[in-house]
Formats: sequence, structure tokens, C-alpha cells
Amino acid sequence: MTSDRLQRFGDRLALPLIAAPMFLVSGVELMVAACRSGVIGSFPTANCRSTDQLDEWLTTIETRLCQHEAQTGRKAAPLCPNLIVHRSNARLEQDLAVLLRHRPEIVITSVGSPAPVVKPLHDAGALVLADVASIRHAERAAEAGVDGLVLLTAGAGGQTGWLNPFAFVRAVRAFYDGVIVLAGGISDGRALYAAEVLGCDLAYMGTKFIATRESMADDRHKRMLVDSSADDILLTTAFTGLQTSMLRPSIVAAGLDPDDLPARGAIDIARDIDVGARESRPKRWRDIWSGGHSTSGVTDVLGVDDLVARTAAEYREARAHDPP
Ligand SMILES: Cc1cc2nc3c(=O)[nH]c(=O)nc-3n(C[C@H](O)[C@H](O)[C@H](O)COP(=O)(O)O)c2cc1C
Repeated sequence: MTSDRLQRFGDRLALPLIAAPMFLVSGVELMVAACRSGVIGSFPTANCRSTDQLDEWLTTIETRLCQHEAQTGRKAAPLCPNLIVHRSNARLEQDLAVLLRHRPEIVITSVGSPAPVVKPLHDAGALVLADVASIRHAERAAEAGVDGLVLLTAGAGGQTGWLNPFAFVRAVRAFYDGVIVLAGGISDGRALYAAEVLGCDLAYMGTKFIATRESMADDRHKRMLVDSSADDILLTTAFTGLQTSMLRPSIVAAGLDPDDLPARGAIDIARDIDVGARESRPKRWRDIWSGGHSTSGVTDVLGVDDLVARTAAEYREARAHDPP
């Protein structure tokens, strides 16, 4: 961890790691477990059915993390809500107001310019990280005054980036000295250490946290990740209109042919992303599942504690053999 901006977290981080925000996956249990284990826990505010539920989630997580501190004498890692700042997010203003009241230590913005939310979040004491997938967007977010950039790279789970991580990180480091977070392909502690060597301060792990007992993912999704490898990840625009990493076996299970999908979101699947909604057509995210290339690193469904302990052991071993 090199950036001064992260010094405020002192020794609260067991690893330079963020449990990445994931739609329909990151919930209260995963957040509490990650933060208790010393990993920054991030969840999309869209995982809450309403702004009121977001308020409840934040209160519950904060209360449980305070109890953890009272019991152990150790302050948990920061909680980090993820806010979609695109104008299509009808709840943006209300969700932002709730965040400002709860004063999270870090907020990650997604899909759009972070500019309108940087000042209010800074005034509330939050570090602001913006996710970006291109050099141009990285430059713009840096100009907007964010504290850090999450670089979405090729092979990431969910709506993925496309740039090679080596090239992307080095290109951004050439003009940016804030916090850099690498997103995509971190499948173990050695890869996490490699991200640090490359010039990153932190990295995301998404796919690996899907296969934890505390994640909200369907158990069949977790098993599918254990049984799959990077070869089973299909890069397609069929389901969301954007480049998305999807698990081939889940497409087959939904009665579709992964090698014969229409382009650009044209497919007849339910598009409603209402968390609670149910209907018979297969639904992206709920029935057709995502995973990144790091699927190859998923060998078991673990408790978050065990995943973090394993990752920390791998990270320490990599460091010991190759001290910085
Ligand atoms: C099932 C799933 C859902 C995701 N949902 C979101 C989301 O709602 N918001 C977001 O910013 N990123 C989302 N992502 C992307 C992750 O935050 C992260 O960039 C990615 O998982 C990193 O790659 P990795 O899976 O190889 O670790 C999602 C990823 C997955 C696998």
C-alpha cells in the first residue's frame, strides 16, 4: 500500500484488497465478514430494493462492525458502498443522501462521471474512487478530483474492461499518483502481490468472493465456479449490451447456445433487474451468471475468513520470495 491517502486506515487492512461490489452477490453478511477479516467490503447500492433498505443495510452493517470492535478491540476494515452515478439511476439523489448521512469511509462510483458527487462525498469525509475502463475516462475522473481510480481490465467478472492490466496500470501511473485499484483476474494472493509490484495500491477480488458461504449468490452459481475454468468464460454483449464475462454452463442451462447468441443485448431474456422479481423467462444475473477469468482460482466454496486467510498466506509467501 503506497498511497498516502490510504494511511488513514493504518493497520486495519489485512491485505491491500477490496471485496468487489457485485450485483445480487454482495449483501450484509458478505460485507460484515469481509470488513471483520480486514478486507474493504464493497456492495452496489442497487442490491438494496429501495433507499430505505439501503439505510437499513448500512445501519445493520455499522452496528455489527461496532460490536466486532467492542469484542475484539480491533477496528474492522472500511465499508465502501458502490454508487451508479449514471443519469439512468433514478435513485441516485436519494441513495447519495443516505450515504452522506452514514458517512462511509470510501465510496466507489460506477458508470459515468463522478464529478457531481465528489464534493459532497469529500465534505462527508469519504475517499472517492471511480471505476474506469479507458485512459480517457481515467484522465477525466482524475480531473474531477477523485482520490483513486479502479481500473477495469480484460477478464474481469461482470461488465468487464478490455485493456490489458499491465499496459493499463502503467499508462495511468504515468500521469496519476492517486490510489490505483486493479480490477480483474486477481485469483490468489500471488496475483494480488503482482498488482502491487505493477504499481497498484489495492486490487479487487470479485469472482473469488462469489464462492463464499456469506455471498448472496445462488448455491448453483458457487458450484459452477468451482467446476469451471477461465475457458468457460464467454465475453459477450448479448445480455447487457456491454462486454460482459458470462459463465457458458449457465447459458446452456438456460436453454441458449453460447456459440450462437445475438449481439448487443438483443436476446429475449428478462431485463428487469428488480432484485425481488420472479418470472419464468431466464433472467440475466439471476439465472445466467457471471464470473471472470479468475474462475480458474476458485477451488472450493469457503467462508470469507478462510478465503482471506488463504489469500494472506499466498500473498506473504510471494512477498517473502521477492521482497520489494
Ligand atoms: C456477478 C458479478 C456482478 C457484478 N456486479 C457489479 C456491480 O453491480 N457494480 C460494479 O461496479 N461491478 C460489478 N461487477 C464487477 C466487479 O465489481 C469487479 O470489477 C470484477 O468482479 C473483478 O474481476 P474478478 O471477478 O476477476 O475479480 C460484478 C462482477 C460480477 C462477477
